[in-house]
Amino acid sequence: AKEPVRVLVTGAAGQIGYALVPMVARGIMLGPDQPVILHMLDIPPAAEALNGVKMELVDAAFPLLKGVVATTDVVEACTGVNIAVMVGGFPRKEGMERKDVMSKNVSIYKSQASALEKHAAANCKVLVVANPANTNALILKEFAPSIPEKNITCLTRLDHNRALGQISERLNVQVSDVKNVIIWGNHSSTQYPDVCHATVKTPSGEKPARELVANDEWVNGEFISTVQQRGAAIIKARKLSSALSAASSACDHIRDWVLGTPEGTWVSMGVYSDGSYNVPAGLIYSFPVTCRNGEWTIVQGLSIDAFSRKKLDLTAEELTDEKALAYSCLS
Ligand code: NAI
Repeated sequence: AKEPVRVLVTGAAGQIGYALVPMVARGIMLGPDQPVILHMLDIPPAAEALNGVKMELVDAAFPLLKGVVATTDVVEACTGVNIAVMVGGFPRKEGMERKDVMSKNVSIYKSQASALEKHAAANCKVLVVANPANTNALILKEFAPSIPEKNITCLTRLDHNRALGQISERLNVQVSDVKNVIIWGNHSSTQYPDVCHATVKTPSGEKPARELVANDEWVNGEFISTVQQRGAAIIKARKLSSALSAASSACDHIRDWVLGTPEGTWVSMGVYSDGSYNVPAGLIYSFPVTCRNGEWTIVQGLSIDAFSRKKLDLTAEELTDEKALAYSCLS
């Protein structure tokens, strides 16, 4: 039998946490033959709710779940973890300045970075979900210098999946027949959902999605804004955040990273930029990646037209600003 993998979920008493932990315990994240031990962290005001989640995990009698650590102690939570999904953070409340929210999250991610660096298993893979996801991941990277930068990522897979969903609805095709959209940049409303290289499986072979849609006005307009604004649309409808789809996409992100992407398919991940596609190095930026043997590689050589170029640069500028704001909170 396989050794259990230890999976940390921070903010585990929250909305996404509640949707995510049963998925992990059911093998959705790491596969149906991979036992897991869940580590759940939240803050003291949520300790009682966190304990309630732990009770439900016991009650659900998941065969793959070999243990549960539910704690408000960061060191206990991080000890020995192989995968860390960082969902906990400080939300933006009405009337709060951007700088104040940033400052709270910078201090959270700085201290959790140190705990992971000191106590996580070697080669721990980190996925940051909490917003501002790209910049939280960057702070985590800066304050965990011994964790390889390739092990620190942020979630843009939800946006990627949303883009697949929009194309499938528009063309009235199965979502599993659509692939290779790209989310570039920040997990924010400046992200660029790109269909220039996406394809759709049809009875007469694989076709470019853009050709099938045959409506550049939609591709360059409504499609982009729908994907960019989808989080807000869900909050408006549900009065709660998009927890189900965020949790599912977080599982997709880790599963593909660990087990590999299918041949001929790429996915979007927020990763440390090496300057590919003239994106400034040193930002956590969402790129198209393929994964194999537990490592991601940025897909190279895709053509970028003038429209796309502007969009790639705009979201990079926002991330450069966020980085500066985050650093100003450190001093
Ligand atoms: P939530 O407010 O329901 O849950 C957040 C949890 O984090 C709470 O239980 C809170 O007590 C906990 N928490 C706060 N500070 C913490 C700390 N220092 N350590 C550990 N836990 C802490 O929020 P929800 O809906 O679960 O969303 C979580 C985050 O994910 C938010 O930042 C949200 O903006 C972000 N998000 C990101 C998405 C993405 O695609 N990257 C998609 C949807 C949400």
